[in-house]
Amino acid sequence: MSEPDGDAQGLIWVPQAAEIAREAGARLREYFAQGVETEYKGDVDLVTVADRTVERLIRAELGEVFPEHGIFGEEGTRERLDGEFRWYVDPLDGTTNFAHGFPVFCVSMGLEQRPEGLKAGEDGTLVAGVIYDPLRDEMFTAERGRGGWLNGKPLRVSRNRELGESLVATGFPSRKRHSSPNIHFYQEFTLRSHGVRRAGSAALDLAYVAAGRTDAFWEFNLNPWDTAAGFLLVEEAGGRITDFGGGPYRIDSHEVLASNGLIHGEMMGLFADMFAGRDLEPIPTAAEWKSRG
Ligand code: IPD
Ligand code: CA
Ligand code: CA
Repeated sequence: MSEPDGDAQGLIWVPQAAEIAREAGARLREYFAQGVETEYKGDVDLVTVADRTVERLIRAELGEVFPEHGIFGEEGTRERLDGEFRWYVDPLDGTTNFAHGFPVFCVSMGLEQRPEGLKAGEDGTLVAGVIYDPLRDEMFTAERGRGGWLNGKPLRVSRNRELGESLVATGFPSRKRHSSPNIHFYQEFTLRSHGVRRAGSAALDLAYVAAGRTDAFWEFNLNPWDTAAGFLLVEEAGGRITDFGGGPYRIDSHEVLASNGLIHGEMMGLFADMFAGRDLEPIPTAAEWKSRG
């Protein structure tokens, strides 16, 4: 299906941004089919020629279409960051999947509007988001106040009211992974829900909450390029996105809890209990597990 019709829907940025994301996605698809060498940015933090080439492509195309807009990209692009608009770009979200031939990854581009006088550490308003999954040809888009869309059809979060009947998702960092507490949360949420998916692309995880495919997603250590577009998709699809304590999502706040809104309170309660060490499931020893049959 074609990109949303900007004129009919009054969209300002999405039609051109979606075109760029589609072209970037096509390049990722080619690299994925041919296979690429993997390099290490850190311990298990991978990068490939696809990440770098596609960021260069997006940078060039955005520069042509929106010459005044700034760009903040995962692979190092820092351009015109003092202007009114700034794109947060992840050219390939899901690099580990990509490098292993696991078919879950996307392009993510979120646009922030920063009024004049805003200080460096202060957030503007996220006004547009585009996430493109090139293997499924799924284009998720949103503009503030105009709704979220998947291949031109409206996005809406799920209606599940309880964690016990929900499918949720999370992710794990590729940096400082030894100090991440998330495995404990993975265990508790697994025991209290229909299951926890860990598909390996935070931007798609957020898009799936917006699409009602999962009921919630959380992660401890994300970056603006992972979350900026997905944040707007979730909000425009009627969901809620905050930090673990219910405080407002901030572009560089790292921790993210996104949900359909209905199970948000229950999830925050579990986070609070767990951080305080309350009601945790004890971990059985191997002998105890065996004796349970
Ligand atoms: C990663 C993915 C993954 C998440 C990591 C991110 P990358 O992004 O979104 O799902 O768990 O925290 O760093 O490195 O593939 O762009
Ligand atoms: Ca990413
Ligand atoms: Ca990336």
